Amino acid sequence: MADNGVTTEEDVDSSRRKFLLTATVGVGAVGAVFAAVPFIASWKPSERARALGAPAKVDVSKLEPGQMTQVTWRKQQIFVVRRTPEMVAKLQQLGDAVLKDPESKSSEQPEYAKNEIRSRTPEILVVVGNCTHLGCLPKPRFEAGAGELGADWPGGFFCPCHGSKFDMAGRVFEGSPASVNLRVPPYAFTDERTLVIGIDDASQEGVA
Ligand code: FES
Repeated sequence: MADNGVTTEEDVDSSRRKFLLTATVGVGAVGAVFAAVPFIASWKPSERARALGAPAKVDVSKLEPGQMTQVTWRKQQIFVVRRTPEMVAKLQQLGDAVLKDPESKSSEQPEYAKNEIRSRTPEILVVVGNCTHLGCLPKPRFEAGAGELGADWPGGFFCPCHGSKFDMAGRVFEGSPASVNLRVPPYAFTDERTLVIGIDDASQEGVA
């Protein structure tokens, strides 16, 4: 304002600028509060996310010897097979020379499945059903000497995408494009018929 008490055009412009500045800061602060709400909400795991990580149960008592079932766990297909004593015996007869990683040194499995049969118990095999080459779903070809896989086929899994072959423990055969064995997820038995995929110890049941 000029000394003579008259409001000049410059005074009007100056107070308008101050108002606009205050208003902008105010809107910015409110905007920041509203922007923060969905952001904070996204930190909390949703029910769906919890469900995705929840353990999956399988009643293995329903599996006949030589049968396989599939279950989804964390968006992955998990193969569960009840092997016959003959299937297990064949695993022990396969020479190391025909397998890329016979002792699973470079492959992914829990410590309790880092053995020749790649499992906690001889009869039940649990593997992630994605080929370790490019992720296709291998097919069960459990019958030895069967069809297109030739007379010396010992039984196992065959990936139709590029021809990787795995034995009845998910170990990859030499000559396959896949370089490591099928992965074994964490799992435990909470009783003799209940297999729980996603936990390493029966005491963890219910922990999602
Ligand atoms: S994805 Fe299985 S062989 Fe390529």
